[in-house]
Amino acid sequence: MEEMKSNRSNLQSATNIISELQARMAKHSLSDAEEKQIRERIEAEDRELAEKARKADQNILMSKVFSQSMVNKKLENACFDNYEPETEEAKRALEICKKYATNFKVSNPQSIMLYGTFGIGKSHLAVAIMRELSKIDLVVKRDESRNVVLKTRKMSMLFINTAKLLTKIRSSFNADSEFSEDKVLQELEDVDLLVLDDFGSEIKDVKPADFNTKNGFAIEKIFEIVESRVGKHTIFTTNYDVDTLFRYYGERSFSRAMEDTTLIQMTGRNYRLRGFEK
Ligand SMILES: Nc1ncnc2c1ncn2[C@@H]1O[C@H](COP(=O)(O)OP(=O)(O)O)[C@@H](O)[C@H]1O
Ligand SMILES: [Mg+2]
Repeated sequence: MEEMKSNRSNLQSATNIISELQARMAKHSLSDAEEKQIRERIEAEDRELAEKARKADQNILMSKVFSQSMVNKKLENACFDNYEPETEEAKRALEICKKYATNFKVSNPQSIMLYGTFGIGKSHLAVAIMRELSKIDLVVKRDESRNVVLKTRKMSMLFINTAKLLTKIRSSFNADSEFSEDKVLQELEDVDLLVLDDFGSEIKDVKPADFNTKNGFAIEKIFEIVESRVGKHTIFTTNYDVDTLFRYYGERSFSRAMEDTTLIQMTGRNYRLRGFEK
């Protein structure tokens, strides 16, 4: 809607310029320099409109790129209200995640890493945070380079399984791929909130001699991604403990990932196995 309005006002101003041009041409009062200036203004506005259209197209393309990597069926309805904390740890995790959502400010980046047992609700809580944030309509952002405050409609968020993300990046090298690696990385850098689900699942736990050949690419890409997210909000969920992640990524990437990141441990029983154990 905003977009349409600004397109319309752009169109309006282009129309104004043209009628001004015509009126002055009719009076033969337009100097060559003035005419050139007006033409340049029109051309600049055309370029701006074209750029806007291109950006809109790109957003559609990116949602296509990531659509299959989005939240799976089981997590579709995950929210804070249907999370049943079974342990003190889980209760605490729920509270921290709620606070994270309430205090979320684009201009005050905070990251969290939910780590612990499989099936304990780490992804559930990440999705619940996104659901909570998606209720916010208006986001105030500061554009530091231009020193202006921007108000945008919704914040942009992306939930992606880290192993699938690496597969996407690899597939971008295929000749027939409709998106490039740069586009994928740019999108990951741009979103207001990125959820890297199952962080570490893209690393193959092979014997030390093969580790670098098998994992070098993934480690390098993860470094690029976490490096580009410094100063932004990222939520990691992982089944691995800190020692394993450190061993996987090495100090450089790991310390980048952990910058301004709050660790939330979640251990206990697999939620889906509750009934079987009683
Ligand atoms: N404490 C909980 N309360 C309600 N549902 C839960 C809870 N823990 C897990 N679940 C559900 O169990 C399934 C697995 O949880 P998930 O968040 O994917 O686990 P994790 O990411 O920790 O491996 C999901 O469908 C999730 O909604
Ligand atoms: Mg999970």
